[in-house]
Amino acid sequence: MPFTTATIATPCALEEIVLVMYVRTLIRPAITQDVPALYAVETAGFTDEDGTRHLSYPLFFFRQAVDALGEFFFAAEIDDGRNDDGRIVGHALGAATPRGSIGWILNVVVHPQFRKHKVGRDLTLALIRALESSGLSCIRLSVEPDNIPAIALYRKLGFSELGREESYFGGTEARLVMQRQTSTAEILGEV
Ligand SMILES: CC(C)(COP(=O)(O)OP(=O)(O)OC[C@H]1O[C@@H](n2cnc3c(N)ncnc32)[C@H](O)[C@@H]1OP(=O)(O)O)[C@@H](O)C(=O)NCCC(=O)NCCS
Repeated sequence: MPFTTATIATPCALEEIVLVMYVRTLIRPAITQDVPALYAVETAGFTDEDGTRHLSYPLFFFRQAVDALGEFFFAAEIDDGRNDDGRIVGHALGAATPRGSIGWILNVVVHPQFRKHKVGRDLTLALIRALESSGLSCIRLSVEPDNIPAIALYRKLGFSELGREESYFGGTEARLVMQRQTSTAEILGEV
């Protein structure tokens, strides 16, 4: 379960004490009202600390994705009982091929401040389950070949490399294509 750390002052000295503060995150379908927050997470999530921007979706696409791909579009929000715009911390989007034989993960992103708290894993698992529930046992995705966190996440969830395409998005935008065919239940050790 996600947690955050905090620094507190003691009477003797300023010491760093790690407080385990559980922050529950809820994975739920993305809705129209989420669009600005989804875009904010997308922008923050695909910008490195040094300002380098990676390929990311534009604002208008999020409205289209909610309308057309809502079945495979999940948001992670902090479940703290508040009702404001700052609660969305990640999202995952997928799609099925027209003939419905292969599911695709199109996007998984977590806000930098909420990473390494299993939010990416929970979002990806929710999406995999939704794709599997639609009868799609083969799921693919493409990822930047040097995106170590994402590749580690996908490997952990049963994906393996299918191949690398040097000009996947044109020019020098290479992508590693990964695929999984194991059922979610097997990955979670439920069978
Ligand atoms: C990839 C990303 C979604 C992972 O989200 P996250 O919430 O931080 O990941 P989780 O906490 O759920 O981690 C699950 C597993 O992923 C792997 N992982 C996550 N971050 C990692 C890191 N920095 N280095 C190595 N492995 C990492 C680990 O295997 C981890 O399991 P473990 O904690 O038991 O070691 C997040 O780093 C992100 O948003 N990156 C930018 C957007 C992006 O590149 N998306 C992928 C597009 S294809």
